[in-house]
Amino acid sequence: MTNFPNDFLWGGAVAANQCEGAYLTDGKGKSLVDILPTADFGRWDALMNPKTAEQKTYDYYPSHESIDFYHNFESDLELMAEMGFKTFRTSISWPRIFPNGDDEKPNKAGLAFYDHLFAKCHALGIEPLVTINHFDTPLALLDKYNGWQDRRLIDLYLNYCEVIFKRYRHLVRYWLTFNEINMILHIPFLGGGMDVSELTDQAALTAKYQAAHHQLVASAKATKLAHEIDPDFQVGCMLAAGDTYPNTPNPADVLEALQANREGYFFIDVQARGYYPNYALALFKEKGIHIDITEDDKASLKHTVDFISFSYYSSRLVSADPAVNVETGEGNVFKSLKNPYLPTSSWGWQTDGVGLRITMNNIWDRYQLPLFVVENGLGEKDELTPDFKVHDDYRIAYLAENIEQMGLALKDGVVCWGYTSWGCIDLVSASTGEMAKRYGYIYVDRDNAGNGTNQRYKKDSFDWYKQVIATNGADL
Ligand code: BG6
Repeated sequence: MTNFPNDFLWGGAVAANQCEGAYLTDGKGKSLVDILPTADFGRWDALMNPKTAEQKTYDYYPSHESIDFYHNFESDLELMAEMGFKTFRTSISWPRIFPNGDDEKPNKAGLAFYDHLFAKCHALGIEPLVTINHFDTPLALLDKYNGWQDRRLIDLYLNYCEVIFKRYRHLVRYWLTFNEINMILHIPFLGGGMDVSELTDQAALTAKYQAAHHQLVASAKATKLAHEIDPDFQVGCMLAAGDTYPNTPNPADVLEALQANREGYFFIDVQARGYYPNYALALFKEKGIHIDITEDDKASLKHTVDFISFSYYSSRLVSADPAVNVETGEGNVFKSLKNPYLPTSSWGWQTDGVGLRITMNNIWDRYQLPLFVVENGLGEKDELTPDFKVHDDYRIAYLAENIEQMGLALKDGVVCWGYTSWGCIDLVSASTGEMAKRYGYIYVDRDNAGNGTNQRYKKDSFDWYKQVIATNGADL
């Protein structure tokens, strides 16, 4: 018995900057992440002070080689096809196409790489799902414009979109404009390619919302452009989702949770409805945030998305009492109280399958647009045994619980097109830069310092997921 429709798109997700490596190969320019070290050498500090980090030299940069998907994509995709993938989510590296972001002409070798990648997907019967910008804005745009704080980024992004929409028109149908667009409020460097470290809190908040506004306009204009180039294109937004629960039934906590949820919903409200919600305008007024929104921007925002995609790792928990809110859970960039009802991973992320069902129902009820779960998974330490096996029953348990709850959300009436679990092949962690934080069905023999053979091995979860797909979610 399955709750999933026959055409449900099962698959997995990666991002160019976390798996491709080849960071300067074939004319690629540096991206934001290419200046970041691993957690042990101050990644968080570098994320918060990127212009200072840029001047430093670190011993090791995890993105430079990563798992070298650039030179291994064919055999990697064959493994994904063996699991029965119907779809594969990856991103195009903007600096592979425009090395400096504002170059006059695109880089031919970069374009050719994605020709081959997407063609290979189709040869294996896999539908590509492509994120246009996943944490890898060209580094040169930080230096020249301070990233998305500058309005000129909108046209640079649109130029990039036009090139890839036209080039891959016959190979790619599903597009996501910005990965986890709400990340810009939490890690403005990754989300917005900007450095706010020297600004006052007030000025930084304004800068982040101004940059977010530019991305919202860019996303809407890209959606319009996509539909003009090919009316069959399906364009989605992408949110780092996960409902925030109130810590207690105290109405003050419930109100606090409502406000915390709005911080994320703000982005989809604009992308799915086409205008700024009143609560956002009220917040700007209350906090003294003045952002530049032109009449042309307002007209552009009316080009809303076709579907809503999101990442879901866990729910969050908040209290209105500042004394209680002090004890925030560790490990996650989204601050949360520790929920006593939920287990916690080695990296301090709590797991909550029911929270996925709740989140899906809430998003569906709010927008009535098809959903796509484009990230979900468990980052854990894996052990490669002497006979090259990985017994990742903890990952299977996490995914089974989440997929079961996703199925129940569909049974509730939610419409969802597909599911791509995060990091289907082990890759570099976005928050810590580690290889040790693994999400994959496929183990990659490489450690945090880049040592290892880079060989691929199937984990126990590989055969398990193959069976999940073969039975359309019935056999978990
Ligand atoms: C999401 C990102 O935030 O979570 C991915 O879109 C990221 O890029 C994933 O890798 C998991 O986070 P982490 O920090 O464990 O890699």
